[in-house]
Amino acid sequence: MNETVYKERRDRLLEIMDEGVAVLSTATMQTRSNDTEYPFRPSSDFYYLTGFEEDNSVVVLCKKGDERKTILFVQEKVPEMELWTGERLGVDAAQECFSFDEVYGIDSFEEQIKALLKEQTLLYFDLFNNNKIYTQLKVIANTMLHTRGVNRSPRTFSDITKLTQQMRLIKSEEEVSLIREALVITQKAHHHAMTTCQVGMMEYQLQAEYEYTFKREGAYSDAYTTIIAGGNNANTLHYIKNDQALKEGELVLVDAGCEYGFYASDITRTYPVNGTFTAVQKELYNMILGVQLKVIEAIKPGGSKKELQAFSEKLLTEGMVSLGILEGEVEMLLEEKAHKKYYPHGIGHWMGLDVHDPCPYSDDNGDENLFAEGMVLTIEPGLYLPKDDEKIPEKYRGIGIRIEDDVLITKEGCENLSQGIAKTVEEIESICKS
Ligand code: GLY
Ligand code: MN
Ligand code: MN
Repeated sequence: MNETVYKERRDRLLEIMDEGVAVLSTATMQTRSNDTEYPFRPSSDFYYLTGFEEDNSVVVLCKKGDERKTILFVQEKVPEMELWTGERLGVDAAQECFSFDEVYGIDSFEEQIKALLKEQTLLYFDLFNNNKIYTQLKVIANTMLHTRGVNRSPRTFSDITKLTQQMRLIKSEEEVSLIREALVITQKAHHHAMTTCQVGMMEYQLQAEYEYTFKREGAYSDAYTTIIAGGNNANTLHYIKNDQALKEGELVLVDAGCEYGFYASDITRTYPVNGTFTAVQKELYNMILGVQLKVIEAIKPGGSKKELQAFSEKLLTEGMVSLGILEGEVEMLLEEKAHKKYYPHGIGHWMGLDVHDPCPYSDDNGDENLFAEGMVLTIEPGLYLPKDDEKIPEKYRGIGIRIEDDVLITKEGCENLSQGIAKTVEEIESICKS
């Protein structure tokens, strides 16, 4: 994305924050074991404001009267370190490539921040992140408080992510383009995997087909750990062991999406291991698909996630009654929450830089944030019918089905961004057999 996009976001944040200093650091390297580390990925909020991808960096925004100042602290260039871990941008190049007012080496952070905080009483930071920089900030603020001659120091701490996450709720066209790119790759991955899936394959082998496509097509990685759940394993919602064999006559639920340009995709498809749905599987699948299509059709600006949740619960309960999975009056079953046993999760969630984008669902009054153009959310109804549940007809036991797409709210209604990924019985069977 063009550098000006990040500058505009910083300007916007400076506009909505109160007078004070905001400090946001990126993620730190995480140890995998002993001296090996996980691949680094910047924190989403930090990346959103900077476009800067290196670790060990901090962004500071200052607002005082009419004055505004933005500062980036980066790891300085150390040739001996670069030999092992690769080239760094360094202070000078960062100053040139990024439009911050000032750029410094991270080693001068403490000295610089002390000078800035002397002028301010409000300090914004990520209150819920345990990054060591925040311990450092609190120590600095405390020391200032007890230092004679220092008349002003931060006494009010505020959560900066409340503001950044509000900003992240509406996606720009550039952001939506990155999600579209992610979905092009995710579509290839699902379609490729459907053609390779066969009886006797291990779940992790099918997972490898997804990861192979993600990497081959230039995705950064998966956006979350891929779920490959054969048969009854689909009834464990976050099944990621992926270590069982895929069996004849069973379905496999695959929840897999890649991350591209740091933007997520999140897609679930449920398909027959041998390529052909049984009559029973088809009946259940088509009922859930019908619900998913109706929910997507109902999405429009001014609507709300709560409404969609209630609508999906009503439709799935009606469907379960018609198939004999639940018995009784739909209204009564809904009141008793009988459906929750088989549809225990939400209809969807915000998606963006994070698969579960941490944008607010309601405002400070507790009122729901209504849908508006540019929001992106998943729509993922599912039913989970455990193999040992004697209350449901035997033919449905051991089946778990979820169908998940990623949807953009538009001016008039919505656009299903993952429309191209095979979803009907006919489309899936045709790809599985090709
Ligand atoms: N892939 C996680 C989810 O669907 O929420
Ligand atoms: Mn999801
Ligand atoms: Mn998912």
